[in-house]
Amino acid sequence: MQIYFAPLQGITDAPFRRIHAARFSGISKYFTPFISPTQNYNLTNQELNEVDPGNISGFTLVPQVIASKPELFLWAVRQLADLGYTEVNLNMGCPSGTVTAKGKGAGLLMSHTGLELFLDEIYSHSPIAVSIKTRIGWQSPDEYERLLTLLNSYPVSELIIHARTRSQFYAGSTSPETVLSLLDQCRMPLVYNGDLFTPGTCSSFLSANPQLNRVMIGRGLAANPALARTVLGGPPLEISEFRAYHDALYETYLRRFPKNAALGRMREVGKHLACCFEDAGKVLKKLRKAASLQAYEASVDALFEHPLLADPGFNPAY
Ligand SMILES: Cc1cc2nc3c(=O)[nH]c(=O)nc-3n(C[C@H](O)[C@H](O)[C@H](O)COP(=O)(O)O)c2cc1C
Repeated sequence: MQIYFAPLQGITDAPFRRIHAARFSGISKYFTPFISPTQNYNLTNQELNEVDPGNISGFTLVPQVIASKPELFLWAVRQLADLGYTEVNLNMGCPSGTVTAKGKGAGLLMSHTGLELFLDEIYSHSPIAVSIKTRIGWQSPDEYERLLTLLNSYPVSELIIHARTRSQFYAGSTSPETVLSLLDQCRMPLVYNGDLFTPGTCSSFLSANPQLNRVMIGRGLAANPALARTVLGGPPLEISEFRAYHDALYETYLRRFPKNAALGRMREVGKHLACCFEDAGKVLKKLRKAASLQAYEASVDALFEHPLLADPGFNPAY
């Protein structure tokens, strides 16, 4: 079983990945949140820092690129190949309206004719392997069969499927049955993604579907950093390693960012971590509203007074 840490813009940045990988085992690949080359063939300093090979130690990182034009995608791929990367991931799943309006992310799913032209170009010219992260369709799961037939005609190195349509964003239920019913027809390695939130639910899902051997997990791992380790048979999350992990993230962001930026970052991280505790509701409200480092620290101290849940992970109700 291979478990991948999903890209989460605003959470799984370079310091986060380094700290997670140093403390928790079980992740076969990390992915950068998407980088988006501009019309002028530029990447921001922050994006360059995200893909700097100097920030990788002891883990595998796949950079993710989002683009609507094949020439921009290929330009970014060549920069990444020059940095030594052997795989790049194409974002064909981001549902945000501002992204899809530009024909990027899940916007590529709107027209299969346009998508075919895009894929023809990138798969004819990419110097390195290109994997794809996408959804089961734009509007309806019925689109998945045609999409898979199209993708099967390219050397897609891996296909990561989030089992929702674009129109669902992250709401409503996933459709694992759509993905599983066509597994036999999928010519490339398939990575299942969506709503595997806790070690218990993830293990049950994998036992019920033994034909899956690669999964990608996002919010579950952002909440419980030991999720992959536990699913793979290692020990469950322990409170002292959890606190040390939180403190390492906090200290690192305080060193790297101005106070307010560090606080914003940690509120986002903290609201995921909080899901792992019993009766976290009240403290979580305070943590979300913390307007100073002092208030944030007080809410985290209060949180760590609570016991961990028996099956800690992400809770969408929060
Ligand atoms: C805050 C947030 C940021 C995300 N950023 C990205 C991104 O940069 N690239 C991407 O492909 N998916 C992104 N996603 C989608 C996740 O990678 C993943 O597919 C989604 O969270 C479903 O998996 P999960 O149920 O295990 O969390 C993001 C999701 C969230 C909630």
